[in-house]
Amino acid sequence: MSSEAPFGVYVHWPFCRAKCPYCDFNSHVRHGGIDEARFLAAYLTELSHFASLAPGRRVTSIFFGGGTPSLMSPSTVATIIEAIAAHWDLALDAEITLEANPTSVEAKNFAGYRASGVNRLSLGIQALDDRSLKALGRMHTADEALAALALAKRHFERVSFDLIYAREGQTAGEWNVELAQALDHAADHLSLYQLTIEEGTPFAARHEAGTLRIPDGELAGELYSITQELCEAAGLPAYEISNHARPGSESRHNLLYWRGHDYAGIGAGAHSRIATDGAKRARSTLKSPEDWLARVEARGHGVASDEALSAKDAAEEYLLMGLRLAEGIDLARFAAIGGSALDDERLVALESDGLIARKGSRLAATPEGRLVLNRVILELAA
Ligand SMILES: C[S@@+](CC[C@H](N)C(=O)[O-])C[C@H]1O[C@@H](n2cnc3c(N)ncnc32)[C@H](O)[C@@H]1O
Ligand code: SF4
Repeated sequence: MSSEAPFGVYVHWPFCRAKCPYCDFNSHVRHGGIDEARFLAAYLTELSHFASLAPGRRVTSIFFGGGTPSLMSPSTVATIIEAIAAHWDLALDAEITLEANPTSVEAKNFAGYRASGVNRLSLGIQALDDRSLKALGRMHTADEALAALALAKRHFERVSFDLIYAREGQTAGEWNVELAQALDHAADHLSLYQLTIEEGTPFAARHEAGTLRIPDGELAGELYSITQELCEAAGLPAYEISNHARPGSESRHNLLYWRGHDYAGIGAGAHSRIATDGAKRARSTLKSPEDWLARVEARGHGVASDEALSAKDAAEEYLLMGLRLAEGIDLARFAAIGGSALDDERLVALESDGLIARKGSRLAATPEGRLVLNRVILELAA
């Protein structure tokens, strides 16, 4: 791969102040505190390891995700960015995003993050009314979140925020009003996620017990359509299933995942995709923060699994990720990765069902296709 291809670094901070009852991300609460200096040393060690696996790349994006990376001190963030710039060529215009929870405590660090080199903030607002925020177990009010958003917009040239819809008891009318309000506050990017009931979470237990009543498939579809219409009308069309941006303001780091480019992921439970000599390897690190820390200190990295992706698996991954995007995939690239083209009969059948569309060498899911994307991908990959 050319050294000019996008290359990203993902940094996972696996801690949160409290665990939200819907969330199954690799995030943990440590009431006894966290030895941040020790973790920082381990991040630097693991970065060196990944730099040796992917030498000579030009880093075009960095993403601090979690967990809650806004619990890291700005100096920790600055030291990690400096280390990345020392190991690789960090592009002058690299996108450097940090996920932040919108509490007033964390907002105090925004200026420090900006000074450390972060140039894009992604805020987890989730809902714009206090009753919903409480039901989601959030530790901030709507006013606090909007104040954090206003402050973020003063410090950062690029700001995104997340909302979760299809929440308990939510009606189409309510979502219309909430999303219109969100769009009034939006900067250049919005992530709008339909609530997913994740196995093993308190929400899953309540859902199973029948005490968490969320919109059924039909209403969820209506909420999705409202999302597309309002965002499009406001100039932030969907460029991916759940992500909306003013054209040109798409998250470059997330695009890199969906477009099948390489990235190094450091920290507990982080994933990497790095091609060497034409073959892509998938690595992931230990999920438990303490186990990861001990492993990095003992061995120089916390990698727990490391496998070469077969050409077929790599092509399937490109299909799976790429069809989430409005721009879709490049059919020639799919064939080059996997060694064979997609089955033409299946393409024609899905096309005549109105679920996919071909334009030149590109293939994309139609709006109808995106509603049943898993089915479309299964049929194409079969
Ligand atoms: C890794 S979380 C980190 C963000 C940050 N810790 C926060 O909560 O503000 C990224 C986003 O995933 C979304 N998310 C997490 N669990 C979800 C679920 N079960 N259904 C839908 N969206 C979810 C939320 O919108 C959240 O902001
Ligand atoms: S949604 Fe964010 S704050 Fe809540 S548990 Fe997940 S990562 Fe932590």
